Amino acid sequence: MDMAFTIALAGKGGTGKTTIAGLAVRYILEKKKKHVLAVDADSNNCLNEALGVDVHATIGKLREDSLQIIRSGAERPGGMSMEQLFDYQVQQSLIESKGFDLIVMGRPEGPGCYCAANNIIRKYTDKLSETYPYVVIDNEAGMEHLSRRTTHRVNLLLIVSDSSVKGIHTAKRIHDLVDELRLEIDGSVLIINRISGEEGKGLINLAGEEGLIIAGLVPQDEAIFNLDLQGKSVFQLPDDSIALKAVFNIFDSANIP
Ligand SMILES: Nc1ncnc2c1ncn2[C@@H]1O[C@H](COP(=O)(O)OP(=O)(O)OP(=O)(O)O)[C@@H](O)[C@H]1O
Ligand SMILES: [Mg+2]
Repeated sequence: MDMAFTIALAGKGGTGKTTIAGLAVRYILEKKKKHVLAVDADSNNCLNEALGVDVHATIGKLREDSLQIIRSGAERPGGMSMEQLFDYQVQQSLIESKGFDLIVMGRPEGPGCYCAANNIIRKYTDKLSETYPYVVIDNEAGMEHLSRRTTHRVNLLLIVSDSSVKGIHTAKRIHDLVDELRLEIDGSVLIINRISGEEGKGLINLAGEEGLIIAGLVPQDEAIFNLDLQGKSVFQLPDDSIALKAVFNIFDSANIP
């Protein structure tokens, strides 16, 4: 079985992970003309908004549904095993859109543990990635998700920093943790987002000193601000958006098959 080429996002809060994840999906659809599985592994899901689709089901919710069936002793459809039931429900909770599907981790309802939803997400991302040429995983802020290992294998980890020293330092910690945890990540690169002036040079120097590989800079872009303001998706971002062009340039030179 072929495995998907998997792109994952990481970085400090509010640096632009979800926006860039959305643009990654758009890039693959437009430039590679292939199907994408988008994975929202952030429990405060909002990748769907970036992609302009509604969420009717999440993995967190699904787990609770299944537990309820077990607890109530109700007949499971066709006498399925718990495993088969999950399989079935995961298939049902895929949000299908034009060119891409989305799966959302969400929060477990009630006193559930994130690990359960997380394990299911990981298992099914692996399983589903056999049926999609590309997978894009949007993660929550910080580093905790790395130790939870949202995915087994990542071909390209995009660590996003805002234009601040703090952002670069967080990026460095993520980069180091990836090494320490011996995650199966083929390459991790840094994107510095929301550059508005000359600060890029200093930040590039700092990142270089920290041993980070810089994929590129993305400018602060009024068009992205407007997108959020109007609740629009990345697909509605005009082609001449400076952030879109910068992100697409980064992907053009990222050796994506
Ligand atoms: N290049 C840019 N120009 C202007 N605004 C941007 C840019 N990149 C991101 N933003 C804005 O910054 C905010 C945070 O972006 P986003 O939600 O993508 O970050 P995030 O890293 O996913 O955040 P979180 O950690 O909360 O998940 C959003 O309002 C987004 O529109
Ligand atoms: Mg986000």
